Amino acid sequence: MTDPSTLSPRDRLIVGLDVSSRAEAEAIVTELGEEVGFYKIGYQLGFAGGLPLVGELARMGKKVFLDLKLHDIANTVEKGIESIAGLGATMTTIHAYPQVMQAAAKAAAGSGLCVLGVTVLTSLSDEDLREAGYGGSVSDLVELRARQAAEAGIGGIVASAQESALVREILSPGMALVTPGIRPAGSEAGDQKRVVTPAQALRDGSTHLVVARPIIASPDRLAAARAILAEMRDA
Ligand code: C5P
Repeated sequence: MTDPSTLSPRDRLIVGLDVSSRAEAEAIVTELGEEVGFYKIGYQLGFAGGLPLVGELARMGKKVFLDLKLHDIANTVEKGIESIAGLGATMTTIHAYPQVMQAAAKAAAGSGLCVLGVTVLTSLSDEDLREAGYGGSVSDLVELRARQAAEAGIGGIVASAQESALVREILSPGMALVTPGIRPAGSEAGDQKRVVTPAQALRDGSTHLVVARPIIASPDRLAAARAILAEMRDA
């Protein structure tokens, strides 16, 4: 992967294509034009006929983050990661369990695909972890898994803005730290409980920002994307 410290704001902004049809996604990509070079495809679009868009966008010179959060036995993860690399994706996600991360790191080696570990889903509280049979707190588990991600040699992790300062210290400098829950000053938080501005996220050590609704749901998407890029440039 490219050294994150050399990235421009355009390389760091990932626009989430959180829509349910390929046509809607294509219209957004057309509208945002050259301004945006990196898109995220998740469950909603991926499972609604959006997977072929990975290759299409890659052929247009765009980078694609395929966010399907894999979790399975090592052999299955390995084959899945090889297929995702074959689609032309730039980034993808797995759950940050040691076996899964080791298998993914092995499969992605030399492909240019950056595998990101999801440490602990941000919807989980300490109480939820206890209910699921874990002993420690969310932050203990985030810290442990960030360490294991670095040891496994995957490309980076996804972390909320609240975790980014903690995990940045643990990750090696070349690892990506991808942060969702970004809201430009004065915008709607929606269902995101803990949000930060683009500038704050970069200051906390995030290398990439995932932004969906502040751009996708804006009446002027291009202006919204430009405003975020300008804020990133100033940071
Ligand atoms: O619309 P918004 O900017 O909140 O979208 C953020 C994107 O990042 C969504 O695609 C969401 O699924 C994803 N995401 C998140 N929080 C996480 C992990 C992923 O919001 N902890």
